[in-house]
Amino acid sequence: VNGQEEDFWLFGYGSLIWKPPPHFDIRLPGYIEGYVRRFWQVSTRCPPGRVVTLIDLEHWRTLTDHHVSAPERVWGAAYHIPPEHVSEVRDYLDIREINGYSIQYTPFHRSDLTHETLNCLVYIGLPSNPQFLGPQDPDALARHILKSKGPSGENKEYLYMLEEALEGLSSESGDEHISDLARRCKALETKGYAGPGHADGD
Ligand code: BEZ
Repeated sequence: VNGQEEDFWLFGYGSLIWKPPPHFDIRLPGYIEGYVRRFWQVSTRCPPGRVVTLIDLEHWRTLTDHHVSAPERVWGAAYHIPPEHVSEVRDYLDIREINGYSIQYTPFHRSDLTHETLNCLVYIGLPSNPQFLGPQDPDALARHILKSKGPSGENKEYLYMLEEALEGLSSESGDEHISDLARRCKALETKGYAGPGHADGD
């Protein structure tokens, strides 16, 4: 799209939104289309915690989801990596982030006044990966998130950070699937539901 083969844009829809990759020089809020964000992936970095993945819209329509509707856009942040850092950043992401994720390229729509579209790399936990869980009962998922804690911290912090980061991207970037899960977790916490001391298993 921008004519420079070396240009590397990475789209973050999970922790990358608030935890940028190393060496980026531009960060743009915006969205991609044709996917649904769901908290349906086992974290390989922080098992048995749960993290988000993207599901192809066509595939998602074949599933029975408790959250029957999904926003038309998946909001997130696109990062530009300067050419001299591309291989280093790819290595970093391969090692640190993407176990269980596959690479896809998709158009990213900037939400600023330019309305430009950029071709972005995005990591997706495909339904064929063992880490992909498929539809989850939201209340059971909220309880699982509250119990899970690993080397990267408490799973609920990932959820709460994601909700906050999404709301900070634009006035329309909230994601009801994420806010609903966060509300359930907070309500359970208020009721004194067991925390990360009960970390193992479901
Ligand atoms: C993300 O934040 O977009 C993300 C990070 C690591 C793997 C997959 C997605």
